Amino acid sequence: MTNFYITTPIYYVNGDPHLGTAYAEINADAFARWHRLLGDQVLFVTGTDEYGLKIAQAAAENGVTPQEWVDRTSERFRRAWGKLDISFDDFIRTTEPRHARTVQEFLSEIHRRGYIYKDLYVGLYCVSCEAYYQESELVNGRDCPVHGRPVTEMSEENYFFALSKFNDRLIELYESNPGAIIPETRLHEVLGFLRQGLTDVSITRSSIDWGVRVPWDEGHVFYVWYDALINYLTAVGYGTSQGTFDRWWPSVHHLLGKDILRFHAVWWPAMCMAAGIDPPAQFLVTGWMLVNGEKMSKSLGNQIDPLAVASELSPDALRYYLLRANGFGLDGDVSMESLYRVYNADLANDLGNLLSRVVALSMQKGGGVAPAVPEIGGDVLGAGPLVEAAVSAWNAFKPNDAIEHAMAIVRAGNALLERVEPWRRPALDPESLDALGRVREGLRLAAAILSPAIPRASAEILSRLGFGARGELRWTPEPGGAALEKGAPLFPRVVK
Ligand code: MSP
Repeated sequence: MTNFYITTPIYYVNGDPHLGTAYAEINADAFARWHRLLGDQVLFVTGTDEYGLKIAQAAAENGVTPQEWVDRTSERFRRAWGKLDISFDDFIRTTEPRHARTVQEFLSEIHRRGYIYKDLYVGLYCVSCEAYYQESELVNGRDCPVHGRPVTEMSEENYFFALSKFNDRLIELYESNPGAIIPETRLHEVLGFLRQGLTDVSITRSSIDWGVRVPWDEGHVFYVWYDALINYLTAVGYGTSQGTFDRWWPSVHHLLGKDILRFHAVWWPAMCMAAGIDPPAQFLVTGWMLVNGEKMSKSLGNQIDPLAVASELSPDALRYYLLRANGFGLDGDVSMESLYRVYNADLANDLGNLLSRVVALSMQKGGGVAPAVPEIGGDVLGAGPLVEAAVSAWNAFKPNDAIEHAMAIVRAGNALLERVEPWRRPALDPESLDALGRVREGLRLAAAILSPAIPRASAEILSRLGFGARGELRWTPEPGGAALEKGAPLFPRVVK
């Protein structure tokens, strides 16, 4: 039995879920669903990142305690993901006691091993990023490169993590294991950064209160990133359940956006090494969803509401669009216009139409029962190689390729019906029956491949075509005869 452990970043709760965070969630969910389909044991973990200055400030602005604030805002994320059919197995909130225990245990271990020391820190800090910047990284020598707002100078006595000691080991890790970071451009970015040389990093704050206490020095709390990354261990029982930990760690796949690559691919494996555990196996790095070329984020305020899209059309429509929009790892411009276009072309026309054609034709002319699936023979749909290619694409974390292969089967199905034209024939002759049987099987395979992207519609397709829940991921002849179901249009066309 293969284990598949996948995580998302845990989201700051100072705003609402938006299309960018939904994008991370939907990608991870699709991979989790794909591996469940393969029969793997899956652990899919997401959550909320609830400490840090930014959140303490948001609570103060809203006139409530930080805990009240995060209870309220974290719930909004959990509910939003429910509405997008995100099938997480665990939801980590960093303010939970189980997480504080893991953080304290893990960082105490690093401290005991001599990789944490005390020193004075002076630096330029962006509150929105919760990160210090070098002067050379600022825009106009003053503004945060991500948020475009001035950074502030902060000075405090901190504990430091001896990151520099892990420079060589990290380079060796990635040189000997280039598949550890997907896509490859991000691997080169990390290696380039490592080759410039690492400096130690400050990991605690004494100026704020809202964080996990440093167990050996109560006047300090851990810096938010240093507590947040550890959620990946909280979920697998680090320090509390050795059996669970050994089962899932280190073969984890961390999905994250390119803006938080260094935290994940540099700091985090170094921390693991310092604590004496193996570094995480793989990072899946997404690009950004852009609106008119700009990143959408809570701080910039140019949001598109994923929940509005999901309730206007369907969660499947949003999921399909985001997974299909562009290659995994690349930036992509998104807009409602292109969403409607893709929805109408792929889902309403190609997929939805093909399903209603097969069902309607079989009902009108074939006695309402499912046409038999013939032997694959000449494979006019090209289903054999397309399914194989789609399986490899999902396994290689390339949702848009997998979707493209499934849609190629669907398009071939429509083309076959247009060639045979069963609707022009008085009754279903052998040629029509062969075509309908092929299309029915092609749709089954396409629905299976598409199920991580459009779980609701896929289940509906299988049931309307008279298939059982779990079939093989390859062409499977069967005698037909099952009852068909007409149903309402799967993806009603939108007119805007
Ligand atoms: N709390 C940290 C993560 C800690 S993980 C140990 C954080 N949170 S976040 O809410 O700001 O962002 C979470 C994720 O959303 C990041 O991976 C980020 O890349 C992603 N996105 C935010 N805006 C995005 C887009 N416009 N497009 C795609 N993803 C984007 O960072």
